[in-house]
Amino acid sequence: MVRARVLEILNGGQIGERYEVMGWVRSRRDSKAGFSFIDLNDGSCLSNLQIIADKELPEYEDQVLRAYTGSSLRVVGVLNESPARGQAVELKAERVELIGPVDPASYPLQKKRHSFEFLRTIAHLRPRTNTFGAVARVRNAVSYGIHKFFQDRGFVYIHTPIITGSDCEGAGELFHVTSLDLEEVARKGEEIDFSQDLFGRPANLTVSGQMEAEAYALALGKVYTFGPTFRAENSNTSRHLAEFWMIEPEMAFCDLKGNIEVARGLLRFIFNWVLERCEEDLKFFNRFIDQTVVSTLELVANGDYEVITYTRAVELLSESGKKFEFHVGWGLDLRSEHERYLCEEVFNKPIIIIDYPKDIKPFYMKLNDDEKTVRAMDVLVPRVGEIIGGSEREDRYEVLERRMRETGINPEDYWWYLDLRRYGSAPHSGFGLGLERLIQFITGLSNIRDVIPFPRTPGNLEF
Ligand code: 4AD
Ligand code: MG
Repeated sequence: MVRARVLEILNGGQIGERYEVMGWVRSRRDSKAGFSFIDLNDGSCLSNLQIIADKELPEYEDQVLRAYTGSSLRVVGVLNESPARGQAVELKAERVELIGPVDPASYPLQKKRHSFEFLRTIAHLRPRTNTFGAVARVRNAVSYGIHKFFQDRGFVYIHTPIITGSDCEGAGELFHVTSLDLEEVARKGEEIDFSQDLFGRPANLTVSGQMEAEAYALALGKVYTFGPTFRAENSNTSRHLAEFWMIEPEMAFCDLKGNIEVARGLLRFIFNWVLERCEEDLKFFNRFIDQTVVSTLELVANGDYEVITYTRAVELLSESGKKFEFHVGWGLDLRSEHERYLCEEVFNKPIIIIDYPKDIKPFYMKLNDDEKTVRAMDVLVPRVGEIIGGSEREDRYEVLERRMRETGINPEDYWWYLDLRRYGSAPHSGFGLGLERLIQFITGLSNIRDVIPFPRTPGNLEF
């Protein structure tokens, strides 16, 4: 007897071999001919294994007939070719053991289509659905692929702190971290004395590992981070989470052009990687979520990416004659509707927008000679908009210090970041890729809450 997972059995199980499998019942049908058909799923792949249980089995009444949707089973049986259409094999059960029963009256996941809104209220059970199982497997494959890409190219994976004292993006969307007794602080009604706090100063959850990654890039040459990131942004959109995962490569002796090459190389690599490894799950998304998922992926896996300046993007938007909800003009930030218009209607491919006005980007981006724009790059893809934000970094001590003052940042607070420009400075660049936005693009799922296991958004902290 061979203990196996459904994936192994479906991809090369031996006819006539005896297998032991364990999983959860997706559905059961009892035929008049004296058989029950059980669709068993164990999460190893999207497909179920069909189990045939004869009513002559001694445990038929007690175990098989109580195997409702959602219950867990152990089955031992012999693999046969299946006469039924749509499947090559089936397991003829010799023994069926009900491990974890389910009360069908209260089990919330019945065999029908549930709305994504409803499934978010049962985030602990939704991985048992086809969609969320597939998302989890794709997310896993993408994560593995990201490490593979960087490891094969000599990047060093570094772990940057989750608790920090700096605000890298300067946007102030910070979660505070404290060990102070907030009730006591409130009762006293005095100004908060952070010297009494664990770190002796204000602390927050990181919005980016970039600054620390820069320190390591200026020693190891090429590094990347891959970890959780936090933003206390009080916006309820389909593209924002309060906790999300970001991949941040940082490269020394690399300018904006080199940065664009790495970003494009990474995206192309990942799209090819999932097309190769997640065929079944992608077909499922293509069928049930968005019919353009696979064709778009194939397009961006090998196709071309348009590089345009911010100034050109604004021109294209102004000339479009299209009525946008948000105003377009040089110096204003591009909104999602603008990004999507450029990507989907003007170019119909991913675009990389460079040289943004300095006033709408963080202080650390390298100032261009025009003194008005910075060497920023945002990568936009159809349907999702921005998935990557990055730049060449300001590597000149004086300019960086001046930019800090101009943007209201006290250079003393960032003395160590300035030191990197004082000692052995070098041109360097990097970017941040939002993992969830990438998974949204790959799966076609329109809401970011459905591509992370337990989403954190304003007002949601169950699970
Ligand atoms: O453009 P952002 O803010 O860039 C940075 O944080 C830089 N420090 C990165 C760097 O240069 N090392 O964020 C990078 C990416 C965005 O393009 C987006 O994909 C994702 O992170 N992102 C979010 N994803 C989900 N929810 C949010 N609230 C996000 N904010 C940013
Ligand atoms: Mg950005």
